[in-house]
Amino acid sequence: MNEYTSMSEYYDALMTSGYYDYDAIAKSLTTILQGRKKILELGVGTGLIAQKLLHYHPDCEFTGIDFTASMLEKAKGRLPQNVQLLEQDVTTLALGSRFEAAFGNGGVWGFVNTGKEYILVSHLTDTQENIKGLRRVAEHLEEKALFIMSVQGVHQDFERALPNQIVYSQEISEKGDFIEKDYIFKKNGEVLATHRNRFRLFRGKAIQELLGEAGFKFQYSDSEDRFHIYVK
Ligand SMILES: C[S@@+](CC[C@H](N)C(=O)[O-])C[C@H]1O[C@@H](n2cnc3c(N)ncnc32)[C@H](O)[C@@H]1O
Repeated sequence: MNEYTSMSEYYDALMTSGYYDYDAIAKSLTTILQGRKKILELGVGTGLIAQKLLHYHPDCEFTGIDFTASMLEKAKGRLPQNVQLLEQDVTTLALGSRFEAAFGNGGVWGFVNTGKEYILVSHLTDTQENIKGLRRVAEHLEEKALFIMSVQGVHQDFERALPNQIVYSQEISEKGDFIEKDYIFKKNGEVLATHRNRFRLFRGKAIQELLGEAGFKFQYSDSEDRFHIYVK
């Protein structure tokens, strides 16, 4: 069992509670894609950004991968049947096709803007696993294809009320090159589900070195700073 398995329902309730502005994110992503059709999402989760992307970019031939079966189940209920959703770990990605762009929205890799610097935050805690995963992504991209990663705000402690009297809280602790994030869902004071996620942080030159290992070069960040765009 991996991190999200026991809590995909709660996670979905949190994410649909206004945690992110999926509509605005999907609009920015559609602009960046500039009509590219063959699109791969890394860490599709419950399909929230995919659903909005398909709304703004209906011609897109969408494939989403995730290694959490229960998240994919929710995504299947949310997305049209012609969308391909596959249970895969990015470090062993094997899809037998190539894409014009791959993206992650808080997916396997993403950036955090601290106001002073951008930190690359990865679900993969080991450097070699990161290189392996990024190379698998590159293998699945056509030449000059885009690799697009979301930029999010700094992870912070907070509490939020969700429907059905559920209260979500998250607690963050940063330890050197790692962040631990505790997700806690409670109802009437009783803990319903908890999960601790550990992320690896890459800063400064280490970011380009890591992405360079897989042949990715930084191109630009979009005008609203929602995504960093790399090219293969
Ligand atoms: C925060 S969720 C992404 C949500 C989704 N992109 C959205 O916008 O709604 C991160 C997802 O990444 C997946 N994930 C993490 N590590 C992974 C890996 N090594 N391979 C595949 N999926 C992974 C998790 O299972 C989880 O569903």
